[in-house]
Amino acid sequence: MTAQKQQAARDLLVFYGEAGVDAVLGETPVDRLAAAEPRAPQADAFDPPAAPARKSAMHDSAPAQRAAPAAPLPPEEAVMAAREAARKAESLEELRAILERFEGCALRATAKRLVFADGNPKARVMFVGEAPGREEDIEGRPFVGRSGKLLDLMLAAIGLDRSKVYIANIVPWRPPGNRDPSLHETAICLPFIQRQIELVNPDILICLGKPSMATLLGVSEGIRKMRGRWLVYKAGDREIPAMPTFHPAYLLRSPLEKRLAWRDFLSVKKVLAR
Ligand code: URA
Repeated sequence: MTAQKQQAARDLLVFYGEAGVDAVLGETPVDRLAAAEPRAPQADAFDPPAAPARKSAMHDSAPAQRAAPAAPLPPEEAVMAAREAARKAESLEELRAILERFEGCALRATAKRLVFADGNPKARVMFVGEAPGREEDIEGRPFVGRSGKLLDLMLAAIGLDRSKVYIANIVPWRPPGNRDPSLHETAICLPFIQRQIELVNPDILICLGKPSMATLLGVSEGIRKMRGRWLVYKAGDREIPAMPTFHPAYLLRSPLEKRLAWRDFLSVKKVLAR
């Protein structure tokens, strides 16, 4: 390859990175146009191509083994499939296995791994963030990047660590380029995190950031207004005390707000001491 071509390839990669294209779907490139079956000439040249066969939302092989992704389910069907799948889980292990095979959310195709949870499933306190980022996607564990390091420090400040808490996200797959999960993706993933909370059955639930608060607690006000307030999360017929607080990623950008987060964490410590 000439030096000029090498530079052009580098520039293209930089452009892809800046545009958020940072996920490869396979090891080798596929020319899907070349692979298409030639179609016999037809009277109506504007016939739409046949839609790929739609599969069920569950897949029985690991993500890396997948050939072509199944046609996406229509939004309501995907949410229904998620509810049905999540309901079947009788344990966290079963829920994880079900999620590994669930194909109803397109994020699964671009993420490297499922980021299910970290910490102690018997913990009294459960933290729920929004969605994994790059580091979490690589490691398959939530909150292991910069914001995770800050979360660990905040936990340590009230005498906790990952052996004493359980941590998960609303969406268990990384959205490409760390974009926000869409409303549709969130709706599909919601039954799974709801079941996960039911199965962990914590004494208290902490929503990290506005998307977690809005999704789990149905609160549409801003996080600045709602943080630190004890609300209620309904898990079946159980009512779990739940508090929204700032997301550690926000605290990294706005360090002055750490003093408010500190108050929230002290409140968690107080409630756990009861
Ligand atoms: N942000 C989140 O909301 N979750 C993670 O796991 C990491 C960063």
